[in-house]
Amino acid sequence: MKIDYEVVIIGAGAAGLFCALNCAVLGKKVLVVDHANKVGKKILMSGGGRCNFTNLYTTPDDFSSKNPHFCKSALKQYTPYDFLTLIDKHQIEYVEKSPGQLFCKNSSKDVLKMLLDECAQSGVKIYKKCNIGHITNNNNKYIIDTSIAKFETESLVIATGGLSIPTLGATGLGYEIAQQFGHDLEETRASLVPFMFEEKLLNKTKHLSGVSIKASISHNANTSIVITDDILFTHRGLSGPAVLKISEYWVKGDSIKINLLPEIDVVTYLNKEKQKHPDLLVSSSLAKHMPKKLAQFICGESEGSIKNKLLNKNKIEEINRRIADWNIYPSDTEGYKTAEVTMGGVSTQNISSKTMESSLVKGLYFIGEVLDVTGQLGGYNFQWAWSSAWCAAQSIIKIKN
Ligand code: FDA
Repeated sequence: MKIDYEVVIIGAGAAGLFCALNCAVLGKKVLVVDHANKVGKKILMSGGGRCNFTNLYTTPDDFSSKNPHFCKSALKQYTPYDFLTLIDKHQIEYVEKSPGQLFCKNSSKDVLKMLLDECAQSGVKIYKKCNIGHITNNNNKYIIDTSIAKFETESLVIATGGLSIPTLGATGLGYEIAQQFGHDLEETRASLVPFMFEEKLLNKTKHLSGVSIKASISHNANTSIVITDDILFTHRGLSGPAVLKISEYWVKGDSIKINLLPEIDVVTYLNKEKQKHPDLLVSSSLAKHMPKKLAQFICGESEGSIKNKLLNKNKIEEINRRIADWNIYPSDTEGYKTAEVTMGGVSTQNISSKTMESSLVKGLYFIGEVLDVTGQLGGYNFQWAWSSAWCAAQSIIKIKN
């Protein structure tokens, strides 16, 4: 026996739930299926538990895709302010951290609750722990074989996200479905992801695990890319927003250059310290602008334990080089295990940028991260989930049953 729904959405993440509520609010009979035991797991984990749910200054330039124009229409059709209207309707308190980046004031749970409340009010059916089997298409009807039942629909929406964080439910199912129906894939890789160090470097930096500082990171292969934000030493290498942001451009073998004190001219500063505080340890002078452990690491044993009055031109230049010109070759990224997003995915080539519908097969839609559209760090990926889901929903609700 097949159970008929007007819309079946695979994936109960940000994009899937948002598409569901927008279809159901206008009367469509909607089913969302997900193999995970809980829905919206990434929403709950996001933004350090406070979900950076949008960025008010979102522009197409904040996204990477083989077709940089693809995201334009959807971002225009459904903007960050549209999503904010829904947030306000649910009286969710939020804060703007850095310009435009909106986070829940209390918890990511607020955003998930809002989506689930809206889904419940409009009668969306959600099945968790539902494993997806074979999908067939006969005369524009999709039959989805699952561990719960066989479902039949005219509008099948793929919202299965990318490969990042398998423990949160990520699989490549969306890519498999895309290929089954003739769509190409763009090569995928982990992005917005921490770096790992090889053993020798890690042995030197491991004790700094937990130390954080605002730094500038530039990409040696493309010197126009310079990111200034916090970095965080970890027991595996480096993380923090600046590192996640630069990981978008990094490929294995590339080196990066870190300036640990981008706002200070170290040579001038140390010369002044030598005059003003000749008996102070060099590491103590540096520790006025960075965590003590890091200052000691920079100085090493010898310079760290010497007094400022013993600094000469060569030593000052050497310390400056270590602070402002620290070149490292990360051995790798931490990969999909911890990456916030997946670059690449379903090629946008045969997808309508206005509706997210396949141009190869009628009634098949791809939304959210499964597509080859990846936002930078800062709320852009959720905005893409909302915008792409909304466009698909607008197209689906026009279908007369
Ligand atoms: P998403 O991955 O959210 O949902 C996909 C759903 O499909 C999941 O529920 C999954 O279980 C289901 N699924 C997968 N395979 C399946 C299968 N085989 N069968 C059935 N169901 C299947 N972005 C941002 O803008 N601001 C932020 O603060 C953060 N923070 C953040 C933190 C962390 C730790 C991560 C990992 C990611 C972020 N992101 C983010 C990125 C953001 O979470 C991400 O881009 C969106 O959740 C993507 O939404 P989707 O709905 O497309 O996929």
